[in-house]
Amino acid sequence: MTYPTQGPARARNSERVLRRLPDGAPILIRPIRADDKRMLENGLRHLSAESVQRRFLTPKRSFSRAELRYLTEVDGRDHVALVAEYPGDPVRRLIAAARFIRLHADPETAEAAIVVADPWQGRGLGSLLARELAARARELGVRRFTATMASDNVPAHRLLARLTRHLDERHTGAGVSEVLLDLAA
Ligand SMILES: CC(C)(COP(=O)(O)OP(=O)(O)OC[C@H]1O[C@@H](n2cnc3c(N)ncnc32)[C@H](O)[C@@H]1OP(=O)(O)O)[C@@H](O)C(=O)NCCC(=O)NCCS
Repeated sequence: MTYPTQGPARARNSERVLRRLPDGAPILIRPIRADDKRMLENGLRHLSAESVQRRFLTPKRSFSRAELRYLTEVDGRDHVALVAEYPGDPVRRLIAAARFIRLHADPETAEAAIVVADPWQGRGLGSLLARELAARARELGVRRFTATMASDNVPAHRLLARLTRHLDERHTGAGVSEVLLDLAA
């Protein structure tokens, strides 16, 4: 199995792209950086309890230093994380984050996760960021995303269903589902 070399992957991952939501709001999407730790922590602090529960499947109010390093110091190849900012905001903050982490056992499959700040939910930002993440995944040889989510998480299910025509869902119990989607379909 071959994957693109570090060079092209690095070049692609340094890219910032300006996109628009369906309502016209401009959104800057860029790879996460090591100096995003404080903004990531602020983002978590401002998330509703429901969004935290849906993202992490457990209550969480802060990240440990090790978690912050893990979440922000990514290699851009096996672990890719994109964040979104609203350029019109006078205070710089992250309004969404999405990532995929390649599985050791199957490098063509990656675990994906996404979260959008509550005031921005329902405006198409999650879908926009998920599409960007899927495009980068394909470029890097990832063919499938898996995601673990609450079985009743309707927005997440709809968002993932839009990325593919082939989605499998397995209910693992306790109201949690494992979703597997084919990025090529
Ligand atoms: C899941 C999440 C990322 C979606 O982000 P978003 O910006 O709200 O998503 P979008 O506005 O692009 O909408 C995605 C789909 O969900 C639907 N949707 C959005 N909010 C909804 C709501 N409150 N109820 C029902 N459907 C909803 C949209 O209509 C859209 O479906 P469609 O394309 O079939 O019309 C966001 O709700 C979130 O951050 N949730 C908390 C964390 C989480 O659940 N992460 C997923 C597991 S890792």
